[in-house]
Amino acid sequence: MGVSDLADYPWDAVAPFAERARAHPDGIVDLSIGSPVDPTPPVVAQALAAATDAHAYPQTMGTADLRGAIVDWYARRRGVTGLTPDQVLPTVGSKELVALLPLLLDLGPGDVVVHPRAAYPTYEVGARLVGATPVASDDPADWPEATKLVWLNSPGNPDGRVLDAAALRDAVVRARRLGAVVASDECYAELGWDAPWDVEPIPSVLDGRVTDGDLSGILSVYSLSKQSNLAGYRAAFLAGDRVLVDRLLTGRKHLGLMLPAPVQRAMTAALADDAHVSRQKELYRARRDVLKPALESAGFRIDSSEAGLYLWVTEGRDTWESMARLAEVGILAGPGVFYGAHHPQHVRVSLTATDERIRAAASRLRGI
Ligand SMILES: Cc1ncc(COP(=O)(O)O)c(C=O)c1O
Repeated sequence: MGVSDLADYPWDAVAPFAERARAHPDGIVDLSIGSPVDPTPPVVAQALAAATDAHAYPQTMGTADLRGAIVDWYARRRGVTGLTPDQVLPTVGSKELVALLPLLLDLGPGDVVVHPRAAYPTYEVGARLVGATPVASDDPADWPEATKLVWLNSPGNPDGRVLDAAALRDAVVRARRLGAVVASDECYAELGWDAPWDVEPIPSVLDGRVTDGDLSGILSVYSLSKQSNLAGYRAAFLAGDRVLVDRLLTGRKHLGLMLPAPVQRAMTAALADDAHVSRQKELYRARRDVLKPALESAGFRIDSSEAGLYLWVTEGRDTWESMARLAEVGILAGPGVFYGAHHPQHVRVSLTATDERIRAAASRLRGI
């Protein structure tokens, strides 16, 4: 299998619904993708602007400042202490890493890549790219003997489900028994809403309660796209097992997967500043507080969604019927079927729209 064998980009199927929604007299409310709408924080933009002289090649491993900032961030924000700079690595956004990890780990035909049942589609893309077999499963007991890589995603996209430390530990124990690498995609970890995640930090897979201090075979994957409105910068990173990180570094050097130097400087500034992350979280909280009751009043049930940037909802109808019903009132959602075959009656509603558009969505929903 090669890149050209991948299916057509599935979002093309949404185009007719987008067209219908755009015809609304007050315009479309696009809640279909999780692309940030608020400005990049000035502290980050200024760091980028100060770093435009970038005559030399950047280092694939990242600057010492950036690696130090990642280590500090894990200790300060995720409760993961004791990491050293050789256990972290910047990535050009997370998506390339998600797509390329099976390749970088030398997986191929006969190997299984496990990912969540409701899943960000790129886990499957990465597996298929190398001819490995993707398996959608949330139950470690069901993971096949041939499993070589397990993707966890907490908080989940699309479903906002959080894995607590015990669930992460079960996954790690099972993966170790299988000899599989665990990669935990954690980019929504700062966005906890419902108890206990309104007060308790959402655990990383690198948490001592999960690993007992042994990081072998474990990677945490994180992105600043959402928490810092940096999706356009492509700023992300991973951390974990020193041996694995070194192996990934070697592969990424060969492939030229290095983060542009100005972005490394911007990312270092973003990681050191918690204030903008708190401010952004409050914006999303307010939007969620408007949208969630409006969806419920329109007959949608909210499933999971205790954290993250999405409301994972169903009205007990086929995903495309719900898409059509929402498009009629000018709202574009994401079809649940894009996130695996197990959710034919869900749609994903993103919180990434301006306050004004979220209010417009809520008032339209109250009218249906
Ligand atoms: C679960 C998950 N992982 C990874 C990504 C990729 O993020 P980025 O490539 O912007 O870092 C996304 C983006 O939506 C996501 O939802």
